[in-house]
Amino acid sequence: MSARHEPVLLRETLGFLRQGAGLYLDATLGDGGHASALLAAEPAARLLACDRDLAALEHSRARLAPFGDRVMFAHATFSELPQAHASAGGELLAGALFDFGLSSRQIDDPARGISFMHDGPLDLRMDVSRGASLLERLALVEEAELAHVLRAYGDVRGASRIARAMLAECRAGRLTGTRALAACIARACGDDRPATLAPVFQALRIWVNDELAHVDAALAWLPQAMRDGGVVVTLAYHSGEDRRVKQALRGQPQMDVRRRPAAAEAELPVWEELTRRVVVPGEEEQSSNPRSRSARLRAFRRRPR
Ligand SMILES: C[S@@+](CC[C@H](N)C(=O)[O-])C[C@H]1O[C@@H](n2cnc3c(N)ncnc32)[C@H](O)[C@@H]1O
Repeated sequence: MSARHEPVLLRETLGFLRQGAGLYLDATLGDGGHASALLAAEPAARLLACDRDLAALEHSRARLAPFGDRVMFAHATFSELPQAHASAGGELLAGALFDFGLSSRQIDDPARGISFMHDGPLDLRMDVSRGASLLERLALVEEAELAHVLRAYGDVRGASRIARAMLAECRAGRLTGTRALAACIARACGDDRPATLAPVFQALRIWVNDELAHVDAALAWLPQAMRDGGVVVTLAYHSGEDRRVKQALRGQPQMDVRRRPAAAEAELPVWEELTRRVVVPGEEEQSSNPRSRSARLRAFRRRPR
């Protein structure tokens, strides 16, 4: 039985997210830690609670039952948020939370094959009800594309060598699980340290779940879904996610209003950045919850239309 997921930067998240009464979105419900704290702190808040993982939804449904009909649940990826939001009535959002990445429950479940610390099937999906598992994808992918995935999503050194070794093992029927994959990577790199294996597993997980395309879709949809003054909080755990958040939400710098007033108005960015400096967990949180270590929190307020 895996441990409950510890919500990361909880106090800081609520500090930005709370905007009084209204409809909120938790796009990454997970174990419902941030969601239950928000509902407890804001008695007039209602919540659209989404996750692509059915097991997370089932677990959180029980945890959030005390909040009754203030919570609406939806099995949705980020790309499906427009439909989930419309089905929930489409009221403009007072706040939205994206706590990207994985929950401890997913990482610790050997059946998902997400961690090389356990032996499990080569799956890596967050939503096991749809899409192709890692093993199914490896059966179809070209070596050059796999090498690109490793470089682009994990900054993996020796990506071509590792891709070649993985596909050879896969075709020989020897990639029987996460341990076999970890051993294959270690042989190709001459190194079996977690620091070598982790970026490869991260890259494969991002690829299998098409994670960055979903992030892009959600960030492009947000401006139309937020009410004026509404706040979005993001928690990113690797540079690819954090870079996308910055690029998508920072928008263009404002132009000089005195020189070109009309153009400046047209260029005004949608979002006001509330976190000039990224917020990271303090030492205490990092030592009590090592999985919080790579977290980077950003918050943005929607400017009036
Ligand atoms: C870090 S956990 C969230 C933990 C949660 N904040 C809590 O306090 O328990 C991330 C969750 O987001 C979900 N998730 C990640 N990417 C997603 C996506 N593209 N669409 C929908 N859910 C996603 C995962 O399935 C996982 O349950």
